[in-house]
Amino acid sequence: MKIISQPLFPSVVWTTLLDDHKAFNSQLMNQVSALQDIDPRGVDNTNVKGWQSPNTLQNLPAFEEINRRILQVCQRIGESLHFKSGQAYHLQAWANVSPPGASNKIHYHANCHFSGVYYISLKAPECGSIYFRDPRVASRMMTWPVEQITDFTAEEIQMRPEEGRLYVFPGWLEHGVEENRSDRDRVSISFNVLAASR
Ligand SMILES: [Fe+2]
Repeated sequence: MKIISQPLFPSVVWTTLLDDHKAFNSQLMNQVSALQDIDPRGVDNTNVKGWQSPNTLQNLPAFEEINRRILQVCQRIGESLHFKSGQAYHLQAWANVSPPGASNKIHYHANCHFSGVYYISLKAPECGSIYFRDPRVASRMMTWPVEQITDFTAEEIQMRPEEGRLYVFPGWLEHGVEENRSDRDRVSISFNVLAASR
């Protein structure tokens, strides 16, 4: 007897590693530090004990290259999902500096197609992982009698962050970031992307 399984409504996280991330990230690190020097207070959002810039990176020439790359990746993903051609991809991006002890509460991003994060500097795995919560509401009504958790039975799935890797996921997928238990700052750029008719 052959049992066939077919995933329905999959929740996807897309990732890509930037080839030139070492040199690129050291430049970005300087740009983020400069931004933090100008505005040491930052903004309060889902960040606990961490610094977050305002959502303005999309307007800053210093971040032009990372903005371009984020949009390029999201556009490629949109094409793979058969988004209508000729859509304009709108970006909002911000920087995060999470010192030891900092974390991000679980949240989602309304009114955007894609959300994501690009990691500039961190010490994995001690810096903590990004985690995603199962969006299938019905599955939270009971627990599975399992000895080992799989992607199907998990209530949360963690993905270890990696310097130079860009992670993209649907804006509705709830996510948070574990506490940084390393001795280094975890530095990243987060973003939302909306595809709309021109
Ligand atoms: Fe987020």
